Amino acid sequence: MILALETSCDETALAAFDPQRGLVGEWVRTQIEIHGRHGGVVPDLAAREHLRQVVPLLLAGKDAWAGGPVGRIAVTRGPGLAACLALGVAAAKALALALRVPLSGVNHLRGHAWSPFISEHAAAPGNFDAALAELLPHLGLIASGGHTILFRIDSDRTVAQISSTRDDAAGEALDKGAKLLGLGYPGGPLIERAAAGGRTGAFDFPRGLGRRADLDFSFSGLKTSLRYQLEKMPLDEIREKMADLCASYQQAVVDALARKTRAALGRGGFRSLGLSGGVANNGVLRQRLAGEANRARVRFLAAGPGHAGDNAAMIGFAAWAGAANAAEGGMDLRIDPGARLDQA
Ligand code: KG4
Ligand code: ZN
Repeated sequence: MILALETSCDETALAAFDPQRGLVGEWVRTQIEIHGRHGGVVPDLAAREHLRQVVPLLLAGKDAWAGGPVGRIAVTRGPGLAACLALGVAAAKALALALRVPLSGVNHLRGHAWSPFISEHAAAPGNFDAALAELLPHLGLIASGGHTILFRIDSDRTVAQISSTRDDAAGEALDKGAKLLGLGYPGGPLIERAAAGGRTGAFDFPRGLGRRADLDFSFSGLKTSLRYQLEKMPLDEIREKMADLCASYQQAVVDALARKTRAALGRGGFRSLGLSGGVANNGVLRQRLAGEANRARVRFLAAGPGHAGDNAAMIGFAAWAGAANAAEGGMDLRIDPGARLDQA
């Protein structure tokens, strides 16, 4: 069994993953309410909260993982907030020492990259290698608050970045948009809810880099365009047209993500399409990408409930499924707050 710890941002999360049985248990303490009061994640508050939560979390899961045997500890080493990562890695080192087991440092983005496969594994743990062979090469989209990345996983299980955003991430565009609209934080789910019944074509927002042949994304122009639009509208008109504004804005984000994903799929050779990261919770995006997968005749794998946004299950799973290409970390394991997807 692999015991995994994730503390890179605003979730303190623990998971026990057994390659033979699947997920044994998951425990999470979220800080959304604390950061919501500040309109975004405050690094210093996040680190203090992880410190407060990490031991109660380990104790909450103890009945499940103490039954063990625990064969390895996995922990997120980056990218993420330095103080938060350091706290998680220190706790993981202490656990590995106490339990006398090896420690793996996992790239958080590789966790997201592998997360759509967790439910494939759960369906038939003993048959995972064969099932995976049918799904590779894989094209994946990670859309979160900090990252927007297209990547591939090849038959030797190497994970390689194809493209990314040049400025804001997709989730960041939704969070900043929601702030301009006075909806609160985090913006993605609030915009999705407020968009219900709205017309997606009511306002014309830009699709960043839409006409360019490369696969990079850009979302900074979108939020600027919303700001200009709102400056032209009196407050009661904004209130009255809130559903239309949200539906149109959300559609611009979904369109931009779907267009580049379609272009990448068109380059051919993929057998599955994956979607993960917090924005993968969005119903409109999931449906749209399922359509793109269908059109390209590849399997669509979206991260399951609780595994789209940050979680520890994906860290334990990536430590196992991507082990051949992961960095082995001993007691000298360091954090890497700026790690890229390509790095172990
Ligand atoms: O992956 P995540 O939990 O944290 C990281 O950024 O690593 O992603 C958080 C992002 C936020 O920007 C949030 O607004 C967005 O995911 N999000 C959504 C939805 N739920 C969360 N965006 C669109 N629709 C949602 N339902
Ligand atoms: Zn994340």
